[in-house]
Amino acid sequence: TITPVLLAGGSGTRLWPVSRKSFPKQFAALVGDETLFQASARRLSGEDYAAPLVMTNADFRFIVAEQLEQAGIEAAAIMIEPSGRNTAPAILAAALKVAETDPAQLLLVAPSDHVVPDVAAFSNAVRKGAVAARQGRIVTFGIEPTRPETGYGYMEAEAGGDGPVTLRRFVEKPDAQTAARMIADGNYLWNAGIFLFSAETMIAAFKAHAPEFLAPVQAALAEARSDLGFLRLAPEPWDRLPDLSIDYAVLEKAANLSVVRFAGHWSDLGGWDAVWREAQDGAPAERGAVTDARSTAIDCDNVLLRTQDEGMEVVGIGLQDIMVVATNDAVLVADMNRAQEVRKAVSALKAKG
Ligand code: GDD
Ligand code: MG
Repeated sequence: TITPVLLAGGSGTRLWPVSRKSFPKQFAALVGDETLFQASARRLSGEDYAAPLVMTNADFRFIVAEQLEQAGIEAAAIMIEPSGRNTAPAILAAALKVAETDPAQLLLVAPSDHVVPDVAAFSNAVRKGAVAARQGRIVTFGIEPTRPETGYGYMEAEAGGDGPVTLRRFVEKPDAQTAARMIADGNYLWNAGIFLFSAETMIAAFKAHAPEFLAPVQAALAEARSDLGFLRLAPEPWDRLPDLSIDYAVLEKAANLSVVRFAGHWSDLGGWDAVWREAQDGAPAERGAVTDARSTAIDCDNVLLRTQDEGMEVVGIGLQDIMVVATNDAVLVADMNRAQEVRKAVSALKAKG
C-alpha cells in the first residue's frame, strides 16, 4: 500500500473572507458538501492506501482531528509542525517517520486544498506512478497547461505514452516570459503538486540536494512528543530550518524525476474565479451566475454570490463580472477578473491592524 501524506498547513489568502488565518480554505466546503481536506483524505483512502499522515500546525490540530472523525477516516498520525517552514521540512519529516518502520514504503504527498473530482482516474494514475516510484524515482503528476500561469511549477516531459516518463527539467514558478515560452514549446506540463516516492528515495534526495535539512528534521522527530494523540515535532531545531518548498529544495535539482500525465480535471482553487469555474462545470448556471442556497441572482452574468452566514441572504440584480462573498463579519465585492488581487485585501487589512 501507499501512505498518503496530507499537507494541511497552508493559509490560502486569495479565498478571503472564507479562508482565514485561523480557518484556511482547506477546511471549508468550497465545492460540494465535504470540506476540501475531507475530500482529499477520502480520495486517498480505498484499498491502495494505508492510513494517512497529516502534516499541520498547532492552530489547526483540532479542526483536522474533528474533520477526519466526521469523515470516518483514521490517521496514522497527525504531526504538528512547531512553525510553518513550507513543504520541504514537512515532507522530509514524513519520509523519516515512515522510514522508521519501512524505508521502501511509498508515500503520496498531496495538498489538501485541491479539487480532483474523478477519483478513479486519479487512482489509476497513481498506480502507474507506483511502478516507477518502486524503482527509486520521484514521481510527479503533470497537467496539460492552458495558460501561461506563473503560480505553478512547469515540467518538461519526454515524449511518450501513458505511463511514467522521464522528466527533463523542473522549473518552479517561472516569470511570465519564461512561462509563455514553455507553453509555446508544447512539451511542458504543470506540476499538480502531488508527489509519489519511497521514503528512502526522498531521504537520499535531501542528502544529495538539501543536506542542511537532515540533522534538524531528524532531531525534531527524535525529540517529538505525543500529546492528546498528536505528534508534536520539537521546536528547537525545527524553528531554525529554512523556509523552503520541496519544489525549490529538491525537485529543481533532482535527476530521478518521472511524470505521469493526468488528463482528469484538476484545480488548485487558486481564487474565487476558480470556485466559480468549478461550479460551472457541474451544472451550467443560468446566464453564468453561481449562487449558494441562500443567495439569489436576477439577470446576472459571470457572477458569484455566496454567503457563509446562515442568517444572511445575498441578492444581486443586473450584475456582470462581479463576485460577492459574505461572512458574518466581512463582505468581499470584487471584479471577477481581479480574483488574484484578493490577497492584497488581506495585506491591506493586516496593515490597518
Ligand atoms: N504542513 C504544511 N506545512 N503544509 C504546508 C506548508 C507548511 O509549512 N506550507 C504549505 N503547505 C501546504 C499548502 O496548504 C498546500 O496544500 C501545499 O502545501 C502546497 O503549498 P502552496 O503554498 O499551495 O504551494 P503553491 O501552490 O505555491 O505551489 C505548489 O503547488 C502548485 C500546484 O498547486 C508547487 O508544488 C507548484 O509547483 C505547483 O504547480
Ligand atoms: Mg497552492
